Amino acid sequence: MDRCYGAPVSDSSRDTATGAGWGAADPGAYRQLMPGRVEKISWLDPRTLWAARNGALASWFGDPTGRTRGRWVAQRAAAGAPADKVIRRTDPDTFSFMVIGDTGEGDDPQYAVVPGFLRVSQGTSFAVVASDVIYPVGSADDYGTKFFRPYRDYQAPIYAIPGNHDWYEDLGAFMRVFCDDAPPLPTEPAPRPLSRAWLRTLLWHRPHPTDGQHLADMRELRSAAAQQAVQPGPYWAIDTGPVRIIGIDTGLLGTIDAEQGAWLREVSRGPRPKILITGSPLYVDGEHHPCPVEGGGTVDDIVSAPEHHYVAAIGGDIHNYQRYPVRLADGRTLQYVVAGGGGAFMHATHTIPRVSVAGVTEGDFRCYPLRGDSLAFYSRLYGRRLRLRRFFALTEAEGQAVVAERLGIGPTRTPGAEVRVTRRLRLIAALLGTGSRPDRRKRLRLPVRTIYTQLFSPSSATYSPPFFKCFLRLDVTPQAVRLRCYAATGNLAQELNPPVEDEVTIPLT
Ligand SMILES: [Fe+2]
Repeated sequence: MDRCYGAPVSDSSRDTATGAGWGAADPGAYRQLMPGRVEKISWLDPRTLWAARNGALASWFGDPTGRTRGRWVAQRAAAGAPADKVIRRTDPDTFSFMVIGDTGEGDDPQYAVVPGFLRVSQGTSFAVVASDVIYPVGSADDYGTKFFRPYRDYQAPIYAIPGNHDWYEDLGAFMRVFCDDAPPLPTEPAPRPLSRAWLRTLLWHRPHPTDGQHLADMRELRSAAAQQAVQPGPYWAIDTGPVRIIGIDTGLLGTIDAEQGAWLREVSRGPRPKILITGSPLYVDGEHHPCPVEGGGTVDDIVSAPEHHYVAAIGGDIHNYQRYPVRLADGRTLQYVVAGGGGAFMHATHTIPRVSVAGVTEGDFRCYPLRGDSLAFYSRLYGRRLRLRRFFALTEAEGQAVVAERLGIGPTRTPGAEVRVTRRLRLIAALLGTGSRPDRRKRLRLPVRTIYTQLFSPSSATYSPPFFKCFLRLDVTPQAVRLRCYAATGNLAQELNPPVEDEVTIPLT
């Protein structure tokens, strides 16, 4: 396989355990990029949980995201943003771009991605951050260490779509950074007392009054002319080369408003091949999540309609890599990708059951980290946290063997010495939810996804390489799009030569 930047190919996690980042290895140089002091996000900290309450308030008292988004869009239109929200770039017919999802925790895993990202992104025209630019609540003060600093050496524009975390302060900081320094929205009149909206407003988290005072200084880190990007709002399209890339904003609760839905239908027309970027992946963890549009229909109705000519739909939100090649009614294959592994804490893949969805089976499905590595990672994490290392910690070979048995799938890595699957291995695999969807709680098992990140600090000292992070490079020609998923482990070997964990070439004709 050739590399645009001329480096030889290195082992991936599909080849060897070393390629996955296991074993004694030289640590990456990424720490030199980090600020001297890193404020670690702790999801155990009541202040973090309280600050991130708007998602829960939106589900209890009604979701105001659609209305707020409409106000942002109107403000941008009044300021001269194009009515069709299309960014018209002048890249040649053959060009490349990067996609990196769920970046902004500002901690080791985010910075560990940066050296490999900079190597692989050489020659690319721009990058897109696919949701959750800033954790925990999208504050302007966090953009320095979680956006401008890590990507200061990427010499091309970065566009973004917001994720739920960016919405926790009503998107104000995101709009300032990505939408031409958009000023705050004017305060609205208070809702009728004792109404649901009134209660919500009463409890709503808002940015700190001094938030963002130093944003201009932070921007200096990405102030070169080649790095500048202005997007017309939180959702947009980019026409460039032979394709149209469409970024949608799925807000706090993973839905889109009627106005955005109408726009999406409009920009989806025509024969130009299209790539969707969304904060809510349409296929994830072996399930179909079509993403409702307010007023009827779904995003996937639009994306999968043959006349709209989508070739890929890439979603953030879930912090790993997954790919589902779904065959459409017209015989084409649409690549549904999850690409949220760009910085924030890793979400498990070993909980993904044996895949059978929309005609996609285990043989077609790809994920990173491999399920066995994900199980070994979580078993070690639990072993450390519960001080039961000897009981919990699985080797990567044990992880692979027990996953293969439980899911009835073949080994995903070239097998080494035979591993006997003991009762202990089976018990740990069951406790950690191997092969059962994260939202199913029928069996006794320990939390490994949402609840885990709330109970344990993902940034705790126990979180060390391999980090199992990833990002995408897409190479576009008039004939095809080549999509590659690259890994970042936190180790030097993969930093110097990021392995390709998955690759697919999508024809455009
Ligand atoms: Fe996220």
